[in-house]
Amino acid sequence: MPRRLFVTTALPYANGSFHIGHIMEYIQADIWVRFQRMQGHEVHFVCADDAHGAAIMLKAEAEGITPQQLVARIAAERPKYLDGFHVSFDHWHSTDSPENVELSQDIYRKLRAAGLIATRTIEQFHDPVKGMFLPDRYIKGECPTCGAKDQYGDSCEVCGAVYAPTDLKNPYSTITGATPVLRQSEHYFFSLSDPRCVEFLKGWALDGRLQPEVANKAREWLEGTAAADGTRSGGLADWDISRDAPYFGIPIPDAPGKYFYVWLDAPIGYLASLKANCAKRGLDFASFVAPDADVEQVHFIGKDIIYFHTLFWPAMLKFAGYKVPDRVNVHGFITVSGEKMSKSRGTGLSPLRYIELGMNPEWLRYYLAAKLNARVEDIDFNPEDFVARVNSDLVGKLVNIASRCAGFLVKRFDGRLAPLDHGAHEGFAKPWAGPEAVAALYEQREYGKAIREVMQLADAVNQYVDAEKPWELAKDPARAADLHRCCSTALRAFRDLVLLLAPVLPAMAQQVRAFMNLPSLDWAALDAPLPAGHRIEAYRHLTTRVDPKQLDALFEPPVAAAPAAGAKAAPPAPTQAASQAEAKSTAPASAPPEGTISIDDFAKVDLRIARIVAAERVEGSDKLLRLTLDAGEGRTRTVFSGIRSWHAPESLVGRLTVMVANLAPRKMKFGLSEGMVLAASFPDDGGGVFLLEPQDGAQPGMKVK
Ligand code: MSP
Ligand code: ZN
Repeated sequence: MPRRLFVTTALPYANGSFHIGHIMEYIQADIWVRFQRMQGHEVHFVCADDAHGAAIMLKAEAEGITPQQLVARIAAERPKYLDGFHVSFDHWHSTDSPENVELSQDIYRKLRAAGLIATRTIEQFHDPVKGMFLPDRYIKGECPTCGAKDQYGDSCEVCGAVYAPTDLKNPYSTITGATPVLRQSEHYFFSLSDPRCVEFLKGWALDGRLQPEVANKAREWLEGTAAADGTRSGGLADWDISRDAPYFGIPIPDAPGKYFYVWLDAPIGYLASLKANCAKRGLDFASFVAPDADVEQVHFIGKDIIYFHTLFWPAMLKFAGYKVPDRVNVHGFITVSGEKMSKSRGTGLSPLRYIELGMNPEWLRYYLAAKLNARVEDIDFNPEDFVARVNSDLVGKLVNIASRCAGFLVKRFDGRLAPLDHGAHEGFAKPWAGPEAVAALYEQREYGKAIREVMQLADAVNQYVDAEKPWELAKDPARAADLHRCCSTALRAFRDLVLLLAPVLPAMAQQVRAFMNLPSLDWAALDAPLPAGHRIEAYRHLTTRVDPKQLDALFEPPVAAAPAAGAKAAPPAPTQAASQAEAKSTAPASAPPEGTISIDDFAKVDLRIARIVAAERVEGSDKLLRLTLDAGEGRTRTVFSGIRSWHAPESLVGRLTVMVANLAPRKMKFGLSEGMVLAASFPDDGGGVFLLEPQDGAQPGMKVK
């Protein structure tokens, strides 16, 4: 039965660029979405910019632009990241959109009609210079407990005391420096403490749809905490959903000067984005959001916003007559080398820099997937671990199978697969759990476990290839059938591996689909091995090894950039600092990139055209050829070259190539090597090694420059 899925990731604040935490969340959700699509399910995967709130309003003001202009600027850079990491959203919207205004006001009206909206007068700090009420994080002062200066309105970073902003001594507004004054204002509340809400949420949150640790949190919030004497404290409080002008948000109906608090309209943005997506595709939005809709609504979020998604959001939907979420999948935070992402220092891992350095996005997808599980656990990006994992698994285990076998099949057998070797093929079913188990692991977001299973199959295939030694079989014409059988068997298994990893490695899967002429990437194909005679195209390399130097470049301290305009005067909203950090780390570098050499450095290498006058296999080495080269010096030179697997010596004699003439001679087991010839290959030699040859007209002894 095909499922219908509505999937979202948290809507990122639109006052800063994406950081690695956002990208991790998108990759986690995207793997799940791609997996579902490959099972033939219908998925609608959407997100949006979270545009409203005081932080964005104040940041725009500091830059002298409108909040809409600020949001548009941030929105414009989104596709570079999303395309860059192959994140396959169907639609990206904004909470500052007509759809969201309409939906937010509609939900509010329905909650009011249900008797769940109340008003109350509250007292709050007001900045008399700025003429606005101050959110807590724009108030600082001296800690009421230890007297430390410049502490935020909620807690002291020096002694750890927790308090209300009104407890601060000598408070000041971080926007203007003015002393805030207490002022009264009428606020609107969503009556979450209403018994109907509490009862509904106890059912919704504790029925097994949430991860156990998330359900435990929800239970604590719903039931309060028990003291040693058996009394309970806490429980749900009503939620303040209004903010006074000036505020960048959605006006509350029938309440002039009042706006919805950003966290009210933000999750409604999920629906606004879905609605816009439905309009784009001619789908009926109502059929997704009706209370009994035959749709699974699945949200992916981080652990810091559980409260909003497991209490406010389902209750809002429920009592406004909408469908409630089926799942809220919570992930932990990503740290970099064991450290929390620094929002202010501009160090760490910039996703944009990663892309701009030309690093393969699928390395990161694979690495994160291998670490992700269904629990709310933090995961760490560790550079050495990253290099080791990608190189050993992706290149050493996966790509290695195709690069070792596809060439022979194409060169020797017209690219056609031999009949199925049932014994060998079925042998591969034993060492791992099989496609159904892997599917269940993807479904449960146990990606690390899924990958470990798939890699067991890869290990088995590599052991098979190591034992059969196609490179040896290839030397003996009498064993052509064995060579054909071995390469065909390995490539059939390779196809399965690629399908199983396609949710994680979508681009590589597409490349393999083209090179192996696969009709589709649907998992249904896993039931049928590729038939005899199926033809593949010439193998083209799939991915290279990670060069640890790329990681050095990724983590290099960015070249100092001028601080963003208004950085000093701007309020200390953490997300804003993060966006400055991002801007810094991706600023165009004025110094040349690492590894740049001058023309003089290059001129030190004496490259000459040489004629290969003799080429012979070397006794005792299956890699080397002994070349005798004439570079017009009145003598010949002997050079050993590791190209034996790729070039028959007879075919080389008489041809021209490029030689490094001033390389220090090297004594080898087989004799003295007096130079080096140049050949082209990828770092793992996948795809072959090709000796360079000059255009017609070049003569031995000519200098290459
Ligand atoms: N705008 C709100 C969400 C509204 S949803 C209706 C918000 N935005 S955010 O930009 O701060 O965070 C977006 C998502 O990124 C959240 O799910 C958050 O948990 C996640 N992450 C932020 N930092 C993270 C890490 N260091 N690691 C992993 N995810 C992190 O919250
Ligand atoms: Zn203190």
